Parts: sequence; structure tokens; C-alpha cells
Amino acid sequence: MSFTDQLASALQESWRLKARPEQLAPPGPWRIWLFLGGRGAGKTLAGASWVHELVQSGKYGRIALVAPTAADARDTMVEGVSGILETAPNWARPTYEPSKRKLTWPNGAIATAFSSEEPERLRGPNHDAAWSDELAAWNEPQATWDQLQFTLRHGRDPRIFISTTPKPIKLLRELLAREGRDVRVTRGSTFDNAANLAPAFIEAVTARYAGTRLGRQELNAELLLDTPGALWTREVIDRANGQWKLPDMKRVVVAIDPSGTKGEEDSGDSVGIVVAGLGSDGFGYVLADRTCKLSPDGWGRVAVRAYHDFRADRIIAERNYGGAMVAHVIKTVDPNVPYKEVVASRGKIARAEPVAALYEQSKIRHAATFVELEDQMAAMTSDGYTGDGSPDRVDALVWALSELMVSGPIPMNFVAPVVITSADIARATSPHLARGPYYAGANDVPYLPTRSS
Ligand SMILES: Nc1ncnc2c1ncn2[C@@H]1O[C@H](COP(=O)(O)OP(=O)(O)OP(=O)(O)O)[C@@H](O)[C@H]1O
Ligand SMILES: [Mg+2]
Repeated sequence: MSFTDQLASALQESWRLKARPEQLAPPGPWRIWLFLGGRGAGKTLAGASWVHELVQSGKYGRIALVAPTAADARDTMVEGVSGILETAPNWARPTYEPSKRKLTWPNGAIATAFSSEEPERLRGPNHDAAWSDELAAWNEPQATWDQLQFTLRHGRDPRIFISTTPKPIKLLRELLAREGRDVRVTRGSTFDNAANLAPAFIEAVTARYAGTRLGRQELNAELLLDTPGALWTREVIDRANGQWKLPDMKRVVVAIDPSGTKGEEDSGDSVGIVVAGLGSDGFGYVLADRTCKLSPDGWGRVAVRAYHDFRADRIIAERNYGGAMVAHVIKTVDPNVPYKEVVASRGKIARAEPVAALYEQSKIRHAATFVELEDQMAAMTSDGYTGDGSPDRVDALVWALSELMVSGPIPMNFVAPVVITSADIARATSPHLARGPYYAGANDVPYLPTRSS
């Protein structure tokens, strides 16, 4: 055995000595190894250690690292406490070039970081292995996954490791259905890793999730299938997701579900902001979820921005619930935006039911995958909301689609002031506008679609 080989096996030994079985790659042939773990169960450490082993084996040298966001890839997978740099032995430490999103090992192996926010970047490169962290939280899970598969054309035994806390998204359910064929699954709970976690962390998560359905998912890593009595089953939600070619829109509304509190950034619920349109093909389209947790001025701007981005007809919000406040906030940001108060004559669930029925009839389509919104939808039951916090996103969704498709037909003499073309919508739904960092303020570039007709 050469000196390098000895070192390689020493590294392997030390991780293999402390790892729990679920953190180690299963033996035998597999293409995909899925580690379903609770929060803090040791998923990321398992991934980083797996990458070290691949590199030291000398058989793998073009590795993709895929995280929900670019910041997750850098801060967790590469630079985090359980990440690749932190866990590398001195004699096999890669150098990191953040601007190239690239790690290079002394033996020439390379790993490149990608994010589910930019699946397009996965067009082109070749990989022989991939580590996907928190796949259930990916932005565009299917598109990112498909692109990743195309890049795995290097080497003779391409392998993918997925480390994630589960969520019943379609991609994960499909992968689990392949268990025993090309997919191997290992499982571990937060408590299995308790010895390596701060007691305060265990206390905090147990207090938060104890006895809840969500705790079974977040701590025990169980895949929760449909909540009993769910208004939207996962199957129905999946049907709304597709690679729809968006038609021109007859009408577009931005619906706001204001939170009950003042909306300070660190307290209270977020403000649901959902954009939906009635397509010229008769289908309802959910175009964006711009829910945010900001001060009134902040969410007012987000809503008005959505109004302009999508050339919406109006902004709507419920009157009973801080209605005057919403009108005031919107008018302060932009006095020219048409605003309509809608009145809740029925309870939350009764309002949601006809909208859920539209989904069941396959009349609603989603322009993108809205993970958080879908989770809230799946947690709405005929007895109430069973999720975390309050269902602000679903409330906004229900207002928007009720306005477009339930409140009665559009009057015969209704003339849409502007036809919003599918090109407008495509621009407005482009990923950098549709998600996270967009709301941070710092990256907030002024944006207005141009009219194409
Ligand atoms: N087998 C182990 N032996 C010793 N320490 C471990 C082991 N597994 C994980 N740890 C430690 O436990 C902590 C949590 O691990 P890690 O960050 O990998 O968890 P995670 O499941 O990715 O967490 P999160 O849900 O926050 O992403 C880290 O400090 C890590 O070093
Ligand atoms: Mg992690």
C-alpha cells in the first residue's frame, strides 16, 4: 500500500469509526443514495464525508454539489461547520474559489457548486458524482433534478447522494418508489444524533414540534402523506404543476393576506401575496407567490411591484381584517394602483373549498413550483389549518382565485384594459424575481416588463 493509499484509508477509518450506519454509503450497486434525516441528524456531515471518500478513492473527480440556493451551497455544503472545507484533512484539503464556485483537491479532483435557483447552469458540465443537499427544499426540484441527470455522463459508475429532511414533494415520492431498484434509502432522526447536538438545540426543536404532525417530518424524518381531511391532496397539487405554456391573461390580480400583527420583521406572520391570472384558455394560473415578512412599507412595495411586474388589473385584500390599513399602505406606495376590498362573508375553510374544487377539476395551473404555498395547501383541512404559523399564502391564493373564478362570471361587458401577453408573464416569472433574495431589498433591481403588443 502506498503512502497516499494509507492516508486515504486513515481518513476513511476515522469517519467510518464515528459515523452512524445511516450516514455511510450503502454497499453494493446503486445509483442514488437517499439519506432522509431530521433536522440536525448529520446529513450535511454525511455528504461532505462522502465527497472526501470519493475524491480519495481516485475514482471520482468531477463532482456536482447542489443546494437550494447559492448561499446554501457556499455557507453549508462548502464552508459550513459540517461542510467540505471544515471536515477536510490537512493533507487533502481542497482550495476554494468562491467566484468560480469551485473546489480543487491536490489530486486534481474538482467539485462545483450549483443551486436549484439556477438549474440552467447545469447545462453543459459533465460530472461523475453529485451530492444534493436538502433536495426537498429545492426551488425547482424537477427541473434541477433533470438537468443534473444529464450532466452525469462522466465515468463508469455515476452516483448521486441526496441528504435531506423529507417533504412529500413529487420528486421525493418518486425516488422513494424506486427504493430497492436503483435507489437505496437510509434514515435517521434528530434524536439519533443528539449526542452531537447542543442540548439547547434539542430543547428548542422539541418544544417547537413536540406532538405535532410536522415534528414527525422535521425530527423523525417521516414522509408525511396527505393530512386526513386535506382540502388539497398532494396528487391534486401535482396536477397543477406542469411545464405549462402560459397563455395570454384576460385578467390578473394580486391578492394580499395581511398579517394580524404590525408585521415587524422579527415578529408576527408573513404577509401573503399571491398573483393569479385567468388565462384566455379558461384555466386559472397561479403566477407568483411573493409572500414576505416585512414592515407595511416593505410589503406594500412588494405588492405594488407585483402589480406592475404582471401588469395586473388590481390589488385585492380582505376588508374585515385590517382592510383600511391595506388600502392605506398601498395608496402610500402608489396612489394610482387600482385597489379593491373584498368582503369575507364566509369562514376561511368555506372560502377555500370552492377553490380546492377548481383544483380537483384540473382548472388551476401553477406557473412554477411554489413549495411553501403547496405545503400550506396540503395542510388545510376541513377542520382547519394543521400547519405551522398561519396559512397566509393559501389565504392570498384563495382570495385571488375566488376573485377570478368563483365570485361569479366576469360581466359580459367587461373589457380587459390591457391584454397581458405570455411574454410579459414569462419575464415577470423569471426565477430571480420569483424568490427569496428578491425580497431582501439589497438585490431589488427596478423592473418593469415592456408591453409586447
Ligand atoms: N456521526 C457523527 N459523529 C459526530 N458528530 C456528528 C456526527 N454526525 C453529525 N455530527 C455533528 O452534528 C452536527 C449536525 O450535523 P449536520 O450539520 O451534518 O446535520 P444536518 O442534518 O445537516 O443539519 P441541518 O438539518 O441543520 O441541515 C454537526 O456539528 C456535526 O458535526
Ligand atoms: Mg445540513
